[in-house]
Amino acid sequence: MDDFASLSAGKQIDDQANYQWRVARRTVGNVKPNDFAWAVGDIPEPGTGEVLLKTHYLGLAPVMRFYMQGTGAAGEAVLQPGDVIHGRGVAQVVKSRHPDWQEGQMVQGQIGWQTYKVSSLSEQEKFFPMPHNDLPAALGAGVLGMTGLSAHAGLFACGAPQKGDRMVLSGAAGGVGSMVSQLAANVAGCDVVGIAGGQDKCAFILNHGCSEAIDYKAEDIASRLDALRPDGIDLYFDNVGGETLQACLERLRMHSRIVLCGSISEYTRDTPFGLSNYTRLRATDSLMRGFFVYNHLHEWERVMDDMAGWIHDGKLRPVQDIEQGFENMPHALANLYHGRNVGVQCCSVRGEPDEWL
Ligand SMILES: NC(=O)c1ccc[n+]([C@@H]2O[C@H](COP(=O)([O-])OP(=O)(O)OC[C@H]3O[C@@H](n4cnc5c(N)ncnc54)[C@H](OP(=O)(O)O)[C@@H]3O)[C@@H](O)[C@H]2O)c1
Repeated sequence: MDDFASLSAGKQIDDQANYQWRVARRTVGNVKPNDFAWAVGDIPEPGTGEVLLKTHYLGLAPVMRFYMQGTGAAGEAVLQPGDVIHGRGVAQVVKSRHPDWQEGQMVQGQIGWQTYKVSSLSEQEKFFPMPHNDLPAALGAGVLGMTGLSAHAGLFACGAPQKGDRMVLSGAAGGVGSMVSQLAANVAGCDVVGIAGGQDKCAFILNHGCSEAIDYKAEDIASRLDALRPDGIDLYFDNVGGETLQACLERLRMHSRIVLCGSISEYTRDTPFGLSNYTRLRATDSLMRGFFVYNHLHEWERVMDDMAGWIHDGKLRPVQDIEQGFENMPHALANLYHGRNVGVQCCSVRGEPDEWL
């Protein structure tokens, strides 16, 4: 049994109490079992203007380590030891004293790592109703959630993909990457070279929109880019930063674009990687543009309709790596930092609801 398996051993949830994972101590480096504390309390009662939410799915994201480290990240409040860990997910309204929300409705938003939550569904918590589109509620913790909005906004609003673009995508087998690869190839008509770690992930991305794959753990990225992109790159979607970003900058074509989505290869470095070749942008009249998903919330409904439509059309196959059981949330988070997930990492707390309004 590994350390995370011992942490979850003997823990189980039911509908008689509110179960939570809280910050036990500030995380240093990667998350460790002793960073997490299990708590059991009464199910809270909603006051006037509030609802009681019952959690069905929770998403896991790289940003959560920053929460655990006590860093104010992604617009969320700084966590102190003893606080419930931040996390977005999918829940059902099981009691409502709010004029705009009915019992039975499904929502997705900032629930935190807990099995019930009382909420006024405020703007700060960024709650959205789950639409009726004949798709599973689980997708609210993935394609039809913030990861989906990130992929859509990053690719379309920032990357402005053109048919035939010679594209490169890093972090291609992750949550955002597995959507960007399919949207770029199947919706925008780009030719996508994906970068991922290991043979299995490379096989996966070749089956999810990429025409070629680079295994960055076994191959030299620069020489593989030279071989696969001899005429250079029109569009680079960056999930990892560091040396990979530097290598792609070096190979830009005229009027190309770089989307800065994430820099996961730099998150555990003591000092950030210093780009030394950014002047390639000037030489090629190119654009490098970052984005933050919460700045694109006004596009929510249109983006969710797009994503649901592409799923129904077969252009986008949702890929979720679903850990079973709320007690395994810390293990699911640790897996993310070891790159063990394929697609969006999430956790099934209670599975699909029997029915929803
Ligand atoms: N800008 C925004 O608003 C926004 C929104 C959401 C996410 N993000 C960022 O976007 C990135 C992707 O997020 P995600 O949700 O898709 O995460 P994810 O599911 O964890 O995928 C990230 C992938 O990066 C790879 N990776 C991990 N460490 C790496 C390293 N040292 N070098 C190269 N690759 C590494 C892993 O795959 P391998 O096994 O292939 O290494 C992993 O599957 C993250 O950096 C995240 O912080 C930004």
